[in-house]
Amino acid sequence: MSERIIIFDTTLRDGEQSPGASLNLVEKVEIAHQLAVLGVDVIEAGFPISSPGDFEAVSAVAREVEGPIICGLSRARRQDIECCYQAVRHSRRPRIHTFIATSDIHVEKKLRKSKEEIIAIAVDAVKFAKSLVSDVEFSCEDAARTNLDYMCEVLRAVIDAGATTVNIPDTVGYSNPWEFGRIIAHIRQHVPNIERAVISVHCHNDLGLAVANSLAAVREGARQVECTINGIGERAGNASLEEIVMNLAVRQDSFPFHTGIKTQEIYRTSRMVSRLTGLLVQANKAVVGGNSFAHEAGIHQDGVLKERTTYEIMTPESVGWTGTSMVLGKHSGRHAFRDRLIQLGFNLDEAGVDTAFARFKALADKKKEIFDDDLAVIAGEIVDQTADGRKETYTLEYIHTTSGNSTVPTATIRLRKGEEELVGAGNGDGPVDAAYSTIRRLTGRCPKLVDYHIHSVTSGTDALGEVRVALEEDGKTAVGRSSSTDVIVASALAYINALNRLENMLERKPEAAEAVRSTP
Ligand code: KIV
Ligand code: ZN
Repeated sequence: MSERIIIFDTTLRDGEQSPGASLNLVEKVEIAHQLAVLGVDVIEAGFPISSPGDFEAVSAVAREVEGPIICGLSRARRQDIECCYQAVRHSRRPRIHTFIATSDIHVEKKLRKSKEEIIAIAVDAVKFAKSLVSDVEFSCEDAARTNLDYMCEVLRAVIDAGATTVNIPDTVGYSNPWEFGRIIAHIRQHVPNIERAVISVHCHNDLGLAVANSLAAVREGARQVECTINGIGERAGNASLEEIVMNLAVRQDSFPFHTGIKTQEIYRTSRMVSRLTGLLVQANKAVVGGNSFAHEAGIHQDGVLKERTTYEIMTPESVGWTGTSMVLGKHSGRHAFRDRLIQLGFNLDEAGVDTAFARFKALADKKKEIFDDDLAVIAGEIVDQTADGRKETYTLEYIHTTSGNSTVPTATIRLRKGEEELVGAGNGDGPVDAAYSTIRRLTGRCPKLVDYHIHSVTSGTDALGEVRVALEEDGKTAVGRSSSTDVIVASALAYINALNRLENMLERKPEAAEAVRSTP
């Protein structure tokens, strides 16, 4: 049997650091469940000390998601590590991941410490983490720009202190495959106790080489790869999980290794992450892009029809790509509908299936063909609305807008807030702006609109339009999402959805801070 490469997924931590990609607790748990189905070995669920929300999300993932190791990130500080422990301890397989920068530029300019001090801090952090859990990972931040002899000293010391995984990040995406491979080979040769730890790599994609660098490292002895779904992450992102895994699967001749990933779950996971983060996948993205399996040129189509492998190095089915063929129509029954939802990974309860089915029927009246992507959006909204028992302060009862090239865009809206009816009209520079300013006036709420994103779920003018709105108030950001064949209605619903979430967030107590304070 070939050696196994450990797939460490950091979509919920580094991936969530992508600009504009904040996820709430329910969304994080939903993604974590799907990552477990996908078969990742480790889920880095967040950075617990960074915010009460992150602490709660890591705790919830640790409590609810079984199978993978659940890991939390912490700086090399006892307070961070303690907080991280309080979040991951709910898992049957907890890991603490602690890090400190080791490159000259970070040590001198950012940390302003001597190199000896850095080693002492790293060793203390690892020993402390080890007193709490047996599975401890240590990262040399900016490893790719760190002096190699010094890094070997750091690694020897942290492995002696108890680190079971040592991670070599290319934090700024500066390296190239030749250089990065050599770094791993050097570590294997010059760290005397390296056999006691797994070598991990964590590559950023600033120069587009994150996947290539990770694979070069695997060839030189790295046995854990840190990556994210769709390659999302800080700046240009991280190494993409699907590209790493499919390289290993398709090119067994170059990479005689295996992973625990169920590749047929890749496409579904990619869609879920894209839907929940609002980060669209570019059409030509390797493995999961909309064009990945589309053969446009006549000569290619002809070849594929005669023999698929002429132009296809992997099948769409191998990554669970279902294409856009029509799946259900107006006359499909509840049973077929429910089966399809289960195949798509949505296990809704009876009430949820009823609501989803009613929405499906309403959509089927407007839109002839219903695709998997439409169903995923409908079901995703039900999961969103029901999973955290959220209170819906405002509901939209009526909206009418007018717009055109020679009229002032206006919106007339009726909202319900408990027993109260809020009715009014207003204008704006377009129908969406008119609707949003009217909602603000009716509710007396004026959060900052930090993101508005609209896209078509499938193709055609009758397609569902999905809108994602992020609102910010008092340092909290809430994301709302909705879909409709009428994009103005979807826009208003998404805004109200975000507003309701903001209300809930502002009402909620900072439980994480409590948890940290009550630590023994
Ligand atoms: O890029 C990086 O260096 C990191 C570490 C915290 C692992 O994300
Ligand atoms: Zn990173």
